[in-house]
Formats: sequence, structure tokens, C-alpha cells
Amino acid sequence: MRPARLMKVFVTRRIPPEGRAVLAGAADCEVEQWDSDEPIPRKELERGVAGAHGLLCLLTEQVDRKLLDAAGANLKAISTMSVGVDHLALDEIKKRGIRVGYTPDVLTDATAELAVSLLLSTCRRLPEAIEEVKNGGWTAWKPLWMCGYGLTKSTVGIIGLGRIGQAIARRLKPFGVQRFLYSGRQPKPQEAAEFQAEFVPTSQLAAESDFIVVTCSLTPATKGLCNKDFFQQMKNTAVLVNISRGDVVNQDDLYQALASGQIAAAGLDVTTPEPLPTNHPLLTLKNCVILPHIGSATHGTRNTMSLLAANNLLAGLRGETMPSELKL
Ligand code: NDP
Ligand code: DGY
Repeated sequence: MRPARLMKVFVTRRIPPEGRAVLAGAADCEVEQWDSDEPIPRKELERGVAGAHGLLCLLTEQVDRKLLDAAGANLKAISTMSVGVDHLALDEIKKRGIRVGYTPDVLTDATAELAVSLLLSTCRRLPEAIEEVKNGGWTAWKPLWMCGYGLTKSTVGIIGLGRIGQAIARRLKPFGVQRFLYSGRQPKPQEAAEFQAEFVPTSQLAAESDFIVVTCSLTPATKGLCNKDFFQQMKNTAVLVNISRGDVVNQDDLYQALASGQIAAAGLDVTTPEPLPTNHPLLTLKNCVILPHIGSATHGTRNTMSLLAANNLLAGLRGETMPSELKL
């Protein structure tokens, strides 16, 4: 029997099959979806969300006060198909008593795998080397040509030893890393014990690391954390990798640091803005490897994220325990 009153759910993008199937099977919901792989224009989003009880969104949608106003008083649950929640105005959401679901854990392995790939590609200069094969720059085996930096006996600094930071350390350890450092809001002795990682101030991490991996969440405290001062403290043989959010790194300062040889190289899976304009100065640098935010991009992971996001939303709407609810 159909429930007397259906709850309206608005989905901001075409999502993978497992999540889609769960929503399609929800007899108590009427699902409207922006049926495209491309982001929904803001006007369409504001129109679509009006009167919705539930919103399933991606990291590309800014859920701010204006959007919450456009949704109106029905809105009970927001579910984002991401672990990052920096696109959500959490204070405003909390004030309105709206519940939030997100997708931690299920993307940790895929993202850590990508972070390690990016680190190795950057420190061993893979994109540059591949290009040399294609453009005839490969003339002979030469002792100093295409040399980079290796992980053996190195010091790795992790900014934010959270789920993904730990998964990266776990994968890097067998490469022969000698020492792990980490920074964050407070020491995490239990998590750090597996890697004998030392909790240090950010400035010490910058100064002593051969490789720095940024895996913290984007907050007012981490915005612009990797700036001119930070790069000046780094060794000029050191490599920076950012898989967190573009805004944690000041990109103008990064450009200067890379172009002047202040630091050796950088690998970025995330930038500001996204996509990065094709004429951006960082793209002119051989020692900067940039990927289009593909940390969690495996078929299995994206499917599982969509399933979790759909289940979070339905649980939130039905007043049940969400599989992964963000504590506000
Ligand atoms: P966690 O919450 O487990 O980890 C976040 C870490 O950030 C915590 O260790 C936290 O430290 C740390 N942190 C918070 N504030 C600061 C600070 N001021 N200085 C240093 N560290 C700080 O999240 P996940 O590991 O699951 O995800 C981390 C982030 O990675 C996401 O927020 C998202 O932005 C990004 N991400 C990117 C992906 C991609 O495709 N490139 C894929 C998935 C995630 P503490 O423990 O002290 O609070
Ligand atoms: C996230 O989940 O926050 C990532 O950036 C995309 O998977």
C-alpha cells in the first residue's frame, strides 16, 4: 500500500546504480533527480530543492543558508556522497535541526591508494618521464637524467592523521620509510603507535619531512595552512602531496615555491578552483603533477558511496539511525 503522503527527495546528480536502486525502491519517497553527469546549475538546484524533505548532494553543491531557505521548512535530512563536508554550512544546518549523513571509511582505501600513486608519480617524475619518451627527449641512459627522490630511509610528514592519513602511512611503511611525523589538533597516540609516528608542530613537520602528505579536513583553521612560510620551512629536496582540499594550500605561494626551487615538487589531487583553468600557471611547471580530484574514483568505491549516501538519507527521513551520521 502506498503511504498517504510521500516525502520529496531531491538528488543533485545521476548517481551510481546501487544508490539509485535503493532510492527507487523507497515506497515512502518521491524522488526527483538532476539526471546528468554534469553539475546542476544553481538556479535549477534552488528550484529542485524547494519543498524537499531530503537532499542527496555531492561536494560540488554549496549547501548554504540561501539554499536551505530555498528548500524550506520540510527539509529534515541532507546526505552528501562525500566524506568531506566543507561544502555544507554546518552551523546553519544544525540550527535548523537538519540531520547530515556522509560517507567516511568506504573511500579510505581507494583514496589512500591514489595518494600513494600520486606521491610516487611526483617524486619519481613519471608524467615528465612518459612525456620524454613520446617527444624524443629520451636519447640515451644517462646517470643523472630524470632522477627524483625515493622513499627509502625518508621522513614522511602527515598533516591530519585521520582515517585516510593512517591508511596512507600503512601503505608507505613497507617502502622503507624511516620516520613518520604528524600534525593535527591533538596527539593521537593510539593511532600513531602503528607507525611510531611522532606528533610535532606543523613548522617542525615542514622542516624535517622529505615527503609531506596533506590529508586533513578543510576548516577555517586549515585554510591556507600550506603557505609561503610553510614552504620556506621545507627542505628544497622535499615533495608535497595534497589530497585534502585545494584551499588548504595557497596556490600562489606554491607556484613561487616550485618555480624558484624552494621545494622539489608537488602532487595535487585537489585544487582551487576545480576544474583548474587550463591556463593556470601551476600547469606550466614540470615539477607539479595535477590530477582531477580522483581520490575515491574506483567503480566499487563510488558505487558503495552512493549506496551509503542513499541509506543515510532514507534513515534520516524515517527518523532511524543513519549508517554514517555526522555529529553536529
Ligand atoms: P578524518 O576526519 O578521519 O581526518 C581528518 C583529519 O584532519 C583528522 O585527523 C583531523 O585531526 C585533521 N585535522 C582537523 N583539523 C586540523 C588542523 N587544524 N590541523 C591539522 N589537522 C587537522 O577524515 P578522512 O581521513 O576520512 O578524510 C580527510 C579529508 O580528505 C576529507 O575531509 C576530504 O576533504 C579529503 N578527501 C579527499 C578525497 C579525494 O578524492 N581527494 C577523497 C576523500 C577525502 P584530529 O584527529 O585532531 O581532529
Ligand atoms: C570526498 O569524499 O570528500 C572526496 O573529496 C571525494 O570522494
